Parts: sequence; structure tokens; C-alpha cells
Amino acid sequence: MVSNSMDYLTIALPKGKLFGLSADMFAKIGYTAEDLSEKSRKLIISNDDKKIRFIISKTADVPTYVEYGAADIGVIGKDVLLESGKDVYELLDLGFGRCHLMMAVHKNQKRGKLMDYNHTRVATKFPHIAEGFFNSKGMQMEYIKLNGSIELGPIVGLSESIVDIVETGTTLRENNLEEIAYIMDATARLICNRVSFKLKFDRIHQMTEDLRKLLALAEV
Ligand code: PRP
Repeated sequence: MVSNSMDYLTIALPKGKLFGLSADMFAKIGYTAEDLSEKSRKLIISNDDKKIRFIISKTADVPTYVEYGAADIGVIGKDVLLESGKDVYELLDLGFGRCHLMMAVHKNQKRGKLMDYNHTRVATKFPHIAEGFFNSKGMQMEYIKLNGSIELGPIVGLSESIVDIVETGTTLRENNLEEIAYIMDATARLICNRVSFKLKFDRIHQMTEDLRKLLALAEV
């Protein structure tokens, strides 16, 4: 067993779209590890000189590793973080991975107004966020949780609509779906375990400040 020792700072990186950007960002402040690659079958990659350990996790699990302290630090999209409801500190908005959450329907099945979808089925990876949104509109929906390729829902008649993220809009376009309601913006966030923040304050504070400076440079 590899425990999250006091000597090491353990950082959970999500597989998928945020992986490369996160690894590059940490490399720029000197947080590197040999063979740190999404394709590697190694799930834990350490830099023993710098006392850093990266763990490579499925995106939706990053907040879980951080909440339980199996990782001190994590990188995760605000959308996934909100949906998880996990109790962690959010240290920084990293700015990359920008996307937005929205509701979309099939172009051929568009109804007049949002309320016309009341009491219909919505397919989503984000049932909690979706429920918050529809509740705020006074709507009651049936939520069908999917784990990917959400856009299939209305195409195969599983649901009338989807709530999902849009980045470039390509997936919506290529599947004849149209956004009909905006829900929220999301970017990657640096998150931290609450106990680690106190016990490893100096290291985490230094790392956060280094990242803050890096982000400020990128904005110039
Ligand atoms: C996400 C999301 C959309 C797509 C949006 O899926 O669920 O399907 O990206 O991106 P676009 O606007 O640039 O087309 P992801 O690629 O993470 O895979 P998934 O469908 O398996 O969740």
C-alpha cells in the first residue's frame, strides 16, 4: 500500500481533456515526474527528489481522492466538482478547460419555450446540477444518468433533452442538437484536501503562489 505520507505532496490529475494541460502547467513550476503520461498504465508516478507524487484518476473520481485525503491536491473541472458535492477547498481557478453547461434538444423536436419541456426526460452526466437548474425554473424533470455520449439520448428516443457541457460545439452540430438554455460556465480548478491544507500549508501555499504567478503571466 502507498499511503499519502507527510513527506510527499500527492496530486490527482484527471484523465481526458484536462490531463495534458494540467501536467504542462505543473511542469512549468517545476513539478515534473518522469513518464508522466495519460497513456502510461502506471497509476502513481513519483518524483522522489522533489517529494511529489502524481496519481492518475478517472475524471469524476478526482474530488473523491482529494476529499478523503488520498491526494492532497487535485485538478478538476468546476462542473464535475459541483456535481460531486465533495467537501474540498477550491484554491484557484486555473482558467483552462473552459466550457459551459447547457440544455439541448434535437433540432426537429424543438418546442416553443423552456416550460414546454416540464415533466419530460433529460439525459445527463450532471443530474444534481441539472436538478438545481430546473428547480430554479419551477420545472420538474425525470433525470436519466448517463456516463458519456450524452447526445445520443434525444437521438435514440431515450430522452427529450440533454444537459451537458459544450466546448467547441462540434458534438452538438454533428448530431443535429441545438442549445436552448444556458446553465453555467466551467473552468479547471485547483482543489485541496482540508486537512492537508493545514498540515502541509507551506508547500501548498508555495505551489499555489507559483501557479498564481504563472497564470498572471499567461494573462499578460
Ligand atoms: C464532452 C461532452 C460533449 C463534448 C462537448 O464529452 O459530454 O459530448 O465533450 O465537446 P464539443 O463541444 O467540443 O464537441 P467527452 O469528450 O468528455 O466524452 P463523453 O461523451 O464520453 O463524456
